[in-house]
Amino acid sequence: MVKERNILITGANGQLGRSIKKNSSNYNYNFFFMPKDKLDISNSLDLKKCLDKFKFDTIINCAAYTNVNKAETEKKKSKLINHEAVGFLAKYCYRNEIQLIHISTDYVFDGKKFFPYVESDKKNAINYYGITKAEGENIFLKYKPKNSIIIRTSWLYSEYNYNFINQIIDKVKKNKNIEITTEETGSLTNASDLANVILEIMPKIKNKEPEIYHFSNSGICTRFEIACKINELLNGSSKVEYNFKSDGNVVRPKFSALDSNKLCHRFSISNNNWLESLKIYLENYQNCL
Ligand SMILES: NC(=O)c1ccc[n+]([C@@H]2O[C@H](COP(=O)([O-])OP(=O)(O)OC[C@H]3O[C@@H](n4cnc5c(N)ncnc54)[C@H](OP(=O)(O)O)[C@@H]3O)[C@@H](O)[C@H]2O)c1
Repeated sequence: MVKERNILITGANGQLGRSIKKNSSNYNYNFFFMPKDKLDISNSLDLKKCLDKFKFDTIINCAAYTNVNKAETEKKKSKLINHEAVGFLAKYCYRNEIQLIHISTDYVFDGKKFFPYVESDKKNAINYYGITKAEGENIFLKYKPKNSIIIRTSWLYSEYNYNFINQIIDKVKKNKNIEITTEETGSLTNASDLANVILEIMPKIKNKEPEIYHFSNSGICTRFEIACKINELLNGSSKVEYNFKSDGNVVRPKFSALDSNKLCHRFSISNNNWLESLKIYLENYQNCL
């Protein structure tokens, strides 16, 4: 069967890249999964060579500098990957009529709201990672690649990384006590759900001016609540304790939940609640043990 389109996935060894790979067999596309060691998006010469050679129809940019704490000291590197490389990709895609799907973050907001952020809310990042991602969005919007979108997501987890969820699971399994901040409220996103959403909506995106959408699992939670739920669902006996400080030395938004209604209505997507998706994740996790 003829494959419908050629799709490049940058940063293919990250959580989202690997989740797309896991779900990709359900779709009739030619996927090119490029991890950083095969395609460094911050090397514009190599990037151009690769894009010229393969003639992609769609690029899903999963590559990013995602270490929020280290971004404060590795400023040049994080800006290069999250901002300048995105500018290069957006300009190339505009000139060559390639669809670009770029992933951004809840951290473009300052966290001063009390109800979920919508796409039109004003950006005001409060840490350097958030600033670079916001600048990446701005440059993407400036170049206006056709049929392209930015998807902001938040609190992403998967089996592929020692993320917040897997750290809690690990502690519960080892009966260790857990100290968790009460200072962060947001929306949890199962990377597999986001991967499916991207692959599902990709052929339906038709625009001249790029658009922004939010996607996270529905509902709002605190990190403390998530830790308590994992402990309960795994029948753990860890003691989960409050900590009134944020994790790490970097300032993070106190409230960064995203409202995903625009995307769900526009593309008729049914969204799992964060707890339902977490339960499915934990069941699969236990089956893998
Ligand atoms: N994780 C979250 O909680 C979260 C929340 C909101 C938004 N997001 C956004 O969602 C997207 C996917 O996040 P994720 O959790 O999948 O991140 P991730 O697991 O850190 O994956 C990012 C991937 O990009 C690669 N990469 C870094 N620099 C690169 C470069 N110069 N060229 C090519 N690849 C490069 C990384 O490789 P190395 O690991 O080898 O550097 C990694 O494999 C990102 O845009 C992120 O900003 C994530």
